[in-house]
Amino acid sequence: MGNILNYTKGQGEFKNWIIEESDFDYQHLGKCESIFCQGNGYMGVRAALEEKYVGEKRNMFVAGTFNKFDEAEVTELPNLPDITNVIIYVSGIRFRMDSGVLHAYSRSLNLKTGELIRKVDWESPNGDRLELCFNRFVSVANRHIIGSKVTIKPLSGDMNISIESGIDGQVTNTGSQHFHEGEKRIYDATYMEMISKTIQSGVYAAIHASHAFEIDGKKAKVDLLPVIERRFLSNKLQLTLKKDSVFTMEKISCVHTSRDLKYESISDDIVDSLKNDGLETIRKAYELGYDALFKENKDAWAHFWREHDIKINAINDYDQLAIRFALYHLNIMTKQDDNRVGIGAKGLSGEGYKGHSFWDTEIFILPYFMFTQPKTARTLLEYRFRNLYGARLKARENGFKGAMYPWESAWIDDGEVTPKLGAADVVTGEATPILTGLIEQHISADIAYAVWEYYIATRDQEFMDNYGYEIIIQTAYFWSSRVEWNETLKRYEINDVIGPDEYKEHVNNNAYTNYLAHYNMKLAKEIIEEMPNINPELYKKLDQKLHLSNIKDEIDRVIDGLYLPKPGEDGIIPQHDTYLKLKHIDLTPYKNAEVVGTIYNDYNMEQINEMQVSKQADLVMLLYLLDDLFDKETKKKNYLFYEERTLHDSSLSKSTHCILANDLGYRDSAYEFFRSSCDIDLGQNMKSSDMGIHSAAMGGIWQCVVMGFGGVRIVGDDLYISPRLPKEWSDISFPLVWRGNPMRVTVSQDDVVVENMGKDAVSIFIYDTKTSILAGQKAGAEIKR
Ligand code: BGC
Repeated sequence: MGNILNYTKGQGEFKNWIIEESDFDYQHLGKCESIFCQGNGYMGVRAALEEKYVGEKRNMFVAGTFNKFDEAEVTELPNLPDITNVIIYVSGIRFRMDSGVLHAYSRSLNLKTGELIRKVDWESPNGDRLELCFNRFVSVANRHIIGSKVTIKPLSGDMNISIESGIDGQVTNTGSQHFHEGEKRIYDATYMEMISKTIQSGVYAAIHASHAFEIDGKKAKVDLLPVIERRFLSNKLQLTLKKDSVFTMEKISCVHTSRDLKYESISDDIVDSLKNDGLETIRKAYELGYDALFKENKDAWAHFWREHDIKINAINDYDQLAIRFALYHLNIMTKQDDNRVGIGAKGLSGEGYKGHSFWDTEIFILPYFMFTQPKTARTLLEYRFRNLYGARLKARENGFKGAMYPWESAWIDDGEVTPKLGAADVVTGEATPILTGLIEQHISADIAYAVWEYYIATRDQEFMDNYGYEIIIQTAYFWSSRVEWNETLKRYEINDVIGPDEYKEHVNNNAYTNYLAHYNMKLAKEIIEEMPNINPELYKKLDQKLHLSNIKDEIDRVIDGLYLPKPGEDGIIPQHDTYLKLKHIDLTPYKNAEVVGTIYNDYNMEQINEMQVSKQADLVMLLYLLDDLFDKETKKKNYLFYEERTLHDSSLSKSTHCILANDLGYRDSAYEFFRSSCDIDLGQNMKSSDMGIHSAAMGGIWQCVVMGFGGVRIVGDDLYISPRLPKEWSDISFPLVWRGNPMRVTVSQDDVVVENMGKDAVSIFIYDTKTSILAGQKAGAEIKR
């Protein structure tokens, strides 16, 4: 079978907006279930097909509803009762595309409207031929609503059709059942209700669903048989359809949970509130019907795209589609108004990483929000503030001071939730211990780094006073207690860590970690030193809470002595103390492999630890984040050295390499890295996304375009825009918000124009020239090659 994904389906107003799965292969269900995931930040619905298949993953998640199934497991986002199921029988034969003859198949996601449409021409094993069409959307206008529709047209003669459709609470997270049985009911023979409660966290989920029917465009009264079974609720119907008539079933569902912001302060009668709200929503939605609900959703998407679309005029239309794909996912994975939830490493699109948040958010995704929807960026950072409790706890438990952020985070007071064991060790046959929760510690500095970037980009003083300073100071305090004195070398070190490169465990002085920890402490030191003059009141308040002078003493004691690895004679900065002494092997077979992680087929972790092989950008990430600390020559040498040794086995790698390559003038490599960053989920590899999309890679695609080719960078206190487009692009245009002022940047091969659509004058650098742009005005420059 050739390529299944078709990127050119969209025409006219939908050109470069549609991704099509042009053939059906039941072995590749996971790919499109993930990349066609629909959602609105509140919830995510994986694109499982209506009928069931072996190997499917039928997932619906609501942000923040974490539960722990068993003491031996970590908390995870539970899979909610499924509403996407519709089982169809044609003259007694169950419709499934892997039996009979599939004469035509097309399933496509329209990124512009959020609608998923599947069209099927199917002949059953006993010769009945019919057309089926399935439509589905998850509303961004009313975030509780999911609309779906099934259309059936018999082609070969009259047919007996029977359908079962309902709410299926028998779903699990790969076997873990997070919910109690709960209550089930059908009201007025129309509105189904299932109320379930998670077994440990006590979160209630209320699912409602309704069905409406039409034949040849007219409302049809259909006899329904209500079915209530264990964890299951459905309607069964049977009817005879005439040849060429068109039957439609609309299934509208809605979801509410006790973790919805609205119920944050309600503790009594929560079930009644959920029932009432659910019933009210479903009744209204049922009256409106699919088309009207879809129109509201489509208008809301149109509103979003008007402001946030990025235009890329490229030789290959794929580039335009890919950035829209990234923008679509970035927005459906993020709950924009709720500081109790983070972004999962797979968004809300799959069970991978259990809905947990990593440094992916701050380093890969946050820049997108900070530069386009700063309010959402603030909410995401407030989530980290609310997680300080868990971070302090983790520091104390490990014998440190201040705040040591969990490597993986879930609900605000869950603390560290990294699982302890992972995949099989090929040598010992045992489950490999996962050490990241214990020793991958750079995340504390990453969060502090992101807070400061946000502050520079927004000047949101209120945020800093209430949350930001405290995050920076508490994390710096952690580092001051974390460093160890090396008496022989007379320096402070950070030993026994995992840096961003997870193929190296228990290393000493990972350069990335040391530099970021130093940066974190330096920020805190400056803040504590300056605050008494700038805001004595705040200083007093924070001093009472945190004992600032004590923290400053601790930082002063260590900061200048902290070892920051420098380039050796050959210009290479050691990624950690012994990296440069490790064995260097030929990595070509692994680099060229279709799937990631193939090195594990030949070596176990212990062996990989002893080789010069990196999973992902590590030192290269440092060169990008703290780019003003290193000169161009050092960057070049280290980029080339480490890229050769990097397998890009993490989705967090290629985008950073794209940006660095573009900065350093490796234009063709930059473009190739951009393309392969886009391919991580959108590409033709049908196994790349089974457990969900890669949310950091979505942020990475945006960063390639805006920070890479668009040349957007914060340096010190200033915004720099120094674009360099690949030769494959003639022009691009993207929105950018700087200190509250929305701007649009347009770049061609010849010039760059920045339009200030905000209320204030902005002062930015275009290349190296400081440029003031008054409100409503434009400024520009010629492209520097
Ligand atoms: C990467 C980490 C990342 C995590 C979640 C891992 O494979 O090595 O850097 O945070 O995935 O995306």
